[in-house]
Amino acid sequence: MFVSSAISLSPPGRAVGRVSGRHEDVGEQFARELADLGAPAEFVRADVRFDADVKDLVDRAVARFGRIDVAFNNAGTEGTPGPVTEVTDEGYQATFDTNVKGTLLCLKHEFRVMREQGGGSIVNVSSGYGLMGYPGATLYVGSKHAVVGITKAAALEGAAHGIRVNAVAPGYTRTAMYERFTGDDTARDAVDSVLPMHRAGTPEEIAEAVQFLGSDRASYVTGHILLVDGGLMAGGPLFPSS
Ligand SMILES: NC(=O)c1ccc[n+]([C@@H]2O[C@H](COP(=O)([O-])OP(=O)(O)OC[C@H]3O[C@@H](n4cnc5c(N)ncnc54)[C@H](OP(=O)(O)O)[C@@H]3O)[C@@H](O)[C@H]2O)c1
Repeated sequence: MFVSSAISLSPPGRAVGRVSGRHEDVGEQFARELADLGAPAEFVRADVRFDADVKDLVDRAVARFGRIDVAFNNAGTEGTPGPVTEVTDEGYQATFDTNVKGTLLCLKHEFRVMREQGGGSIVNVSSGYGLMGYPGATLYVGSKHAVVGITKAAALEGAAHGIRVNAVAPGYTRTAMYERFTGDDTARDAVDSVLPMHRAGTPEEIAEAVQFLGSDRASYVTGHILLVDGGLMAGGPLFPSS
């Protein structure tokens, strides 16, 4: 049984177990697509900022499937980017409530179930920005660094209970967030051209890493942050572009 706190779709929009998010139309369609592929799936509307929603998601997963083997805590937002001098309470909440509190609430309820069943595997989502800074994105960068720390601490708490906790740290990935971040095709081409592989990653490439970390193939991997960034962090922004 697999539970995911959010779905990442490749624009224009098109991925066993329980998937969630806040938009029922997107979630229901996604669950139908999974079912058509032979993977029984069910959508549950859940906002990870709220304890009751996450508890409901996890409890309903257990009620339907009996256990949670793998949990993917993918929900995230870029919040309201801007300079540090313009940080507001609203901007802080918009970013940290989903990226940090949401991750913590997911871990809280997943741990409750996994401890009782004797183990499980959890994959959080940080970012390349969880390992480096970026001007104008202080809140997002801070929130994704927090996910790195939370992942490591939770991994140590889970280790003796058979619970592995890891994170993927994607580089630029072609999702709706990337479309918003880059703006238009011209800006997108400009970003792509300075990336080591001259392209952003795909959700499928991130999913491969999540699948590995979630599976028994990674049975001795915990507290790890797996970069999936096409080499972006290998050289930093000043690497010689070929
Ligand atoms: N795309 C990139 O370049 C990139 C790079 C590094 C890391 N990431 C991380 O990858 C993850 C997925 O991002 P993405 O690129 O797929 O972004 P996206 O296209 O904006 O999708 C975000 C997903 O998170 C869900 N979500 C947002 N806030 C939520 C909340 N409070 N409760 C429940 N679900 C929520 C959204 O569903 P609803 O709107 O229906 O709730 C949506 O399914 C995020 O954690 C993001 O920070 C992305």
